[in-house]
Parts: sequence; structure tokens; C-alpha cells
Amino acid sequence: MTELIRVEDLRVVACGERGEVEIVKGVSFSLKKGEVLALIGESGSGKTTIALALLGYARRGCRLSGGVVQVGEHDMLALSKTQLQGLRGNRVSYIAQSAAAAFNPAKKLIDQVVEGALIHGLGNRADLQAKAIELFRDLALPDPERIGQRYPHQVSGGQLQRVMAAMALISDPLLVVLDEPTTALDVTTQIDVLRAFKRVVYERGTTAVYVSHDLAVVAQMADQIVVLNGGEVLEQSATAPLLK
Ligand SMILES: Nc1ncnc2c1ncn2[C@@H]1O[C@H](COP(=O)(O)OP(=O)(O)OP(=O)(O)O)[C@@H](O)[C@H]1O
Ligand SMILES: [Mg+2]
Repeated sequence: MTELIRVEDLRVVACGERGEVEIVKGVSFSLKKGEVLALIGESGSGKTTIALALLGYARRGCRLSGGVVQVGEHDMLALSKTQLQGLRGNRVSYIAQSAAAAFNPAKKLIDQVVEGALIHGLGNRADLQAKAIELFRDLALPDPERIGQRYPHQVSGGQLQRVMAAMALISDPLLVVLDEPTTALDVTTQIDVLRAFKRVVYERGTTAVYVSHDLAVVAQMADQIVVLNGGEVLEQSATAPLLK
């Protein structure tokens, strides 16, 4: 099978007072459909920068300066802002470390989960709500039929991360990027949430890039592991069957 996602010689620079500094220095990897790739490395190694580049995005003060990011038929670094907006939350989606910041505190969860998909014209409200409930169930959220009627502050941190996963998956994206989605949770909750993510990703055959600084966490989840150091690939390997 050919690759669905291809990152080749990706370079990102940060623009500081003393000119441009390269913070991602020629990173390459690829994924086949349905594969999960883990990006690991210590703090500052470039994980989030690369994760965002997969969505064609660079943080303020940074610039995607070279290379290729191909997601399905989309050449992400060649697209306009409007074209990228059409893809984000649709063909590519992002699950961040802290869901709390991603939710509007004044809106019911279910409305927020279906909002992006509605805007992208992926279905009518009733069908999307039914799909959201199915995802809540697959993500082992309690009371999946009704939990969406709550507001963000009425669920736990681990539950909110799962709701964000539902929001990311409702469009059946080509690629889901999970950037340390369990790091803000306590250890036992992390295990539960990770288990739920793993199940839903595998059951749906989702292609995913999972960012973490913890090898033990990603080893359970990933088919391939890319170890980063100082913006470069230090090591790249298939997950040892014993670790999985
Ligand atoms: N706007 C910026 N200007 C200058 N340097 C930046 C900027 N943004 C990020 N960097 C640098 O780029 C490097 C990579 O940052 P990145 O956030 O990708 O790391 P990370 O691996 O995700 O770290 P963490 O595990 O802490 O989340 C860091 O050394 C950081 O200091
Ligand atoms: Mg990061």
C-alpha cells in the first residue's frame, strides 16, 4: 500500500531578534492508511512544531521554510489559508493537550462536537448528533446519550479530552494529530483515556500521529516510533511487538 501521509525534509524556522533559527531540521517520515506513528522526544525537541506543520500551520514567530507535507491528495505547504481552513477539522484534525482551552464554556458539548462538521457541510445536525453519541459510546464516556447536553465545566478533565477526540473524529479525517492528549491528566485517568483512544483509533482504522514525551505511553498505541532530538530525527523504528 502506498503512503497516505508523507513528510519529507520538513524545515521550520523561528524568527527571533538575531534572525532565523532552524527549529525543525529536515525531518522525514511517512504513514500508511490506518497506521499510528508516535513522535517522541524531550521537551523542546520539536514535537508540537512538527505536529502543527502536519496541519499546514506554524505558530506565531515560526515559519514553515521547506520540505513537503503530503496528506492524502493535499500538499499542505502549498495551500492557501482558505484552503487550509477548509481542511482543518474536516480532513485533518488536532487534539490538544488541554481540551479546556479548546471548548467554549457557554455552549453545550454536543453542539460544539458537531459544529465544525456542520460548517464543513458533512451532514445534517440530527445525523451528526447521532454520530457524536456513537463516538461518545466508543470512547467509553458515561451516559453517552445525554452527556452531550452538559457544558464543559460539568465533565471531568479526562471526559473532556474524550469529547475533544469525538470532535476530532466526527468528520472521519484522513489524519488525526494528538499532541500529548493525556499529559494534563492524572496517571490513572491517563491510562483510561489512552485505552479509549486506542480502541477508537483501531476500530475506525484512523491514521494518527501521536505526540508524547513518554515511550511507555506511545508504545502501546503506535506502529512506528520517531524519536526527535533538537529538531532532528534521532531514531526511527517499528514498535517492537513486545512493547505493543
Ligand atoms: N516562536 C518561537 N520562537 C523561537 N523559538 C521557538 C518558537 N516556538 C518554538 N520555539 C523553539 O522550538 C523548539 C521546539 O518547540 P516545540 O514546542 O515543538 O517542542 P516540543 O517537543 O513540543 O516540547 P514540549 O514537550 O515541551 O511540548 C523549542 O526549542 C522552542 O524553544
Ligand atoms: Mg509540545
